[in-house]
Amino acid sequence: MDPTKALEESLDSFGREYERAFADAPTEQALRDEKARLLGKKGALTEALKLMGKVPPADRKRIGERVNGEKSAVEGAFDARLRQLHAEARARELSARPLDLSLPGRAPIRGHRHPISLVTDDLLAIFRDLGFIVVEGPEVELEENNFTKLAFPPDHPATDMQDTFWVEVAGAPSDARTLLRTHTSSVQVREMSRRTPPMAIVSPGAVFRRDDDATHSPMFHQVEGFLVDQGVSMADLRGVLAAFAERLYGPGTKTRFRPSYFPFVEPGAEIDVSCALCKGAGCRVCKGTGWLEVLGCGMIHPEVFIHCGIDPEIYTGFAFGLGVERLAMMRYGVPDLRLLFENDPRFLASF
Ligand code: PHE
Repeated sequence: MDPTKALEESLDSFGREYERAFADAPTEQALRDEKARLLGKKGALTEALKLMGKVPPADRKRIGERVNGEKSAVEGAFDARLRQLHAEARARELSARPLDLSLPGRAPIRGHRHPISLVTDDLLAIFRDLGFIVVEGPEVELEENNFTKLAFPPDHPATDMQDTFWVEVAGAPSDARTLLRTHTSSVQVREMSRRTPPMAIVSPGAVFRRDDDATHSPMFHQVEGFLVDQGVSMADLRGVLAAFAERLYGPGTKTRFRPSYFPFVEPGAEIDVSCALCKGAGCRVCKGTGWLEVLGCGMIHPEVFIHCGIDPEIYTGFAFGLGVERLAMMRYGVPDLRLLFENDPRFLASF
């Protein structure tokens, strides 16, 4: 067949169908696919153009103009639909909810444990290594467990020395007075009353007294420890606490006993540890003495044993109680105890 004719026929059959196809293309990709069917490598118009080479020179100009006309018509229709699709997409975007998935997310602030918990856990880990088990007791306590069975005589000045928060507990028997425990020593009573020796227990937790200044808070934390068995002596107490101090502050840390009084121990003592900061030379933290007071302790009073159903002729034991805040302040150089409880994130973030 005459190539000029063939080309003209195929251009005729080319028609205007693409206009419809472009208008119906729902997406940019569909539109581009449609265009490729005409103008792409294997497109209908491209195929037709292959005949151009065979068209005699006399017809070339005319046919060429027609081909170019078709081509730019297709391109024009394509561009128009593409602009329309973009405009529609933009309009949808503008009327949609303002959600920008490309914005970086707000990273949640990652919390961490409170310095008091950090120090408490370190203390418990040391005592666990030494063979103690951990037991907790309630913060709302019976007067009996907090004072009476610990051999505080009725109306002993200690009850007001410790300036107790008395509380009413709904449903409690009327003869049982209740309070916020003033120390963790109440756990001694609880555990000794329900266990048979030997026992070696540490008990962490909050305690409450009516105190409030730079070095005293109405709520603070203690770790209580006690050990009961046959033949326990003050030497065992000293050995355990010396090992504890060395593990806490490093080898070579010295401890010293000073006689002291607590109604539930006899003899009673307070223990000082050589200052971890100045190693005994004297500094601001130890107020120039070279020693830091860290805990109260002693041999469990026979009367306490009797109150708890343990025979003091058979068993002896020691107990100690230490303040966690004091240790935390020393470890982290915290100048005011109250900072530990104000929950100021600027302070807490520094641990
Ligand atoms: N419970 C005492 C206090 O809070 C500390 C202590 C515990 C003393 C055990 C001796 C034995 O001050």
